[in-house]
Amino acid sequence: MRDSEFEFIRTLVYDHSRIQLGPDKRELVSARLGKRLRATQLTTIGEYCALLQGPQAEEELSHLIDAISTNHTFFFRENSHFDFVRQQLVPEMEARRAKERWSRFHAWSAACSSGEEPYSLAMTLSECLPSGWPWHIECTDISHKILAKARAAIYKSEVVAKLPPAQVKAYFQRGVGPQEGNYRVRPALQQCLSFHQMNLLVGEPPFREPFQVIFCRNVMIYFDRPTQEELVNKLTRRLVPGGYLLVGHSESLTGIRHSLQMVKPAIYRRPTAA
Ligand SMILES: C[S@@+](CC[C@H](N)C(=O)[O-])C[C@H]1O[C@@H](n2cnc3c(N)ncnc32)[C@H](O)[C@@H]1O
Repeated sequence: MRDSEFEFIRTLVYDHSRIQLGPDKRELVSARLGKRLRATQLTTIGEYCALLQGPQAEEELSHLIDAISTNHTFFFRENSHFDFVRQQLVPEMEARRAKERWSRFHAWSAACSSGEEPYSLAMTLSECLPSGWPWHIECTDISHKILAKARAAIYKSEVVAKLPPAQVKAYFQRGVGPQEGNYRVRPALQQCLSFHQMNLLVGEPPFREPFQVIFCRNVMIYFDRPTQEELVNKLTRRLVPGGYLLVGHSESLTGIRHSLQMVKPAIYRRPTAA
């Protein structure tokens, strides 16, 4: 890939998603563009850059972001967050619920990828929220393709086998026929989640009701500091006072201006008086 082509792709990806592709990502970009060349039946990256400037640019741009972004995730990743939800966050919110007149517990998985994160949260909430308090999880991601996977809620048996058997039994259906070897999240759990395609950095999230908890994990690492700051402040405004923002353990908020209190590593709380 020529310098000018890498620069063009890198700027386009940054402008659209704020994902930062440093010089160390050149090999990765080149490999991922290989897939797009095959899909578009083009032969050179130069032709591909021309496609991204032509009438089909918008459609291709969304495929490009899909190809570039890293969707790696798994069930109960950074499990201490789910313990925290179970042991501290839910009891705390439950105690405030009547006074605050919260009709439901509202959570947001802000970069949900293929769904393992919000379904892990869904399993957790269904086990620890008192019956009679409805709950809902909003799930967003920039990638249409990965959201389609999350919506389908179908996972390979080797992935699901890592969960405790009781959880598999309670929350998954084993596939038969063409779905042999796969498991699907049961509809009763799935209906507590909604999926929306959304770039976290463009516009305002389409949710009116504030959140008791927002998971925004393992996405900020791809953004520069000013972008992280903008995002953290945008998310903070969406929390109820006393609500929690959970970030990935490798994503410290040190060095960015925000109004949150650190509770534990990767767990932040909006002050109640804010
Ligand atoms: C590494 S995955 C993290 C998944 C999950 N939160 C976890 O911690 O396992 C990062 C996700 O962020 C999404 N993403 C990247 N940039 C985004 C943006 N600007 N807005 C929304 N989602 C974005 C990617 O599509 C990807 O699915």
